[in-house]
Amino acid sequence: MENFIEFTNVRKIYSMGEVEIEALGGIDFSINKGELVIIAGASGAGKSTILNILGGMDSPTSGKITVDNGSISSYNQKDLISYRRYDVGFVFQFYNLVQNLTAIENVELATQVSKAPLDVNQVIEDVGLTPRKNNFPSQLSGGEQQRVAIARALAKNPKLLLCDEPTGALDYETGKAILKLLQDTGKKTGMTIVIITHNLALTSIGNRVIKVKSGKVDSVTINPSPMDVEKVSW
Ligand SMILES: Nc1ncnc2c1ncn2[C@@H]1O[C@H](COP(=O)(O)OP(=O)(O)O)[C@@H](O)[C@H]1O
Ligand SMILES: [Mg+2]
Repeated sequence: MENFIEFTNVRKIYSMGEVEIEALGGIDFSINKGELVIIAGASGAGKSTILNILGGMDSPTSGKITVDNGSISSYNQKDLISYRRYDVGFVFQFYNLVQNLTAIENVELATQVSKAPLDVNQVIEDVGLTPRKNNFPSQLSGGEQQRVAIARALAKNPKLLLCDEPTGALDYETGKAILKLLQDTGKKTGMTIVIITHNLALTSIGNRVIKVKSGKVDSVTINPSPMDVEKVSW
């Protein structure tokens, strides 16, 4: 589906007392259903602001955002709550797991706010965590914790999976394994996945690469044949 996601002239201004910070200065792009999208750019470029607005966690100052024909930029608070619950899976740099719940319990918790959750044990298996499913986050490595976070996001069976620097806290090999999991998940499920990175070497793994610079889209590139994560090094 063409233009599954569309940003039209999206601006975001943060007011901090007397100071106004223009985080986004008129952003335009579109994303097709099923694409693996890389949003790349330097620190402070506006990447997280874009993802937070796309995920319904922040609202634009002006402009229009549509997701699957829903005009999320005109949603009220109630619509946004449903959107975040049912439509969006989010993966953060620092995993954000509930520390006193086991891996599988963290995943189960997320399925309780889903209309059509996937089978929790199957999702745990898909991310390679079955032997560790009864461990608490503090008993898991960073890479394993991120697998729990990905399982938690996927188990909701969302329309889109948004990942903000998902490998930012991981060593090279572990980060690569996480990216491979995300790429394989996209291929297997057809889910639309957006990954933020400041690592330009990763752009070759995306179907679409949106480069952001100083709150503006610097370029959009389509990769007809994205590289497999295994074949990329940086
Ligand atoms: N909640 C906020 N309040 C004020 N300024 C913010 C806020 N969030 C982000 N910014 C500012 O907006 C700009 C873009 O930030 P961000 O989207 O986090 O960039 P990136 O993720 O690319 O590093 C930065 O100048 C940042 O300081
Ligand atoms: Mg950021």
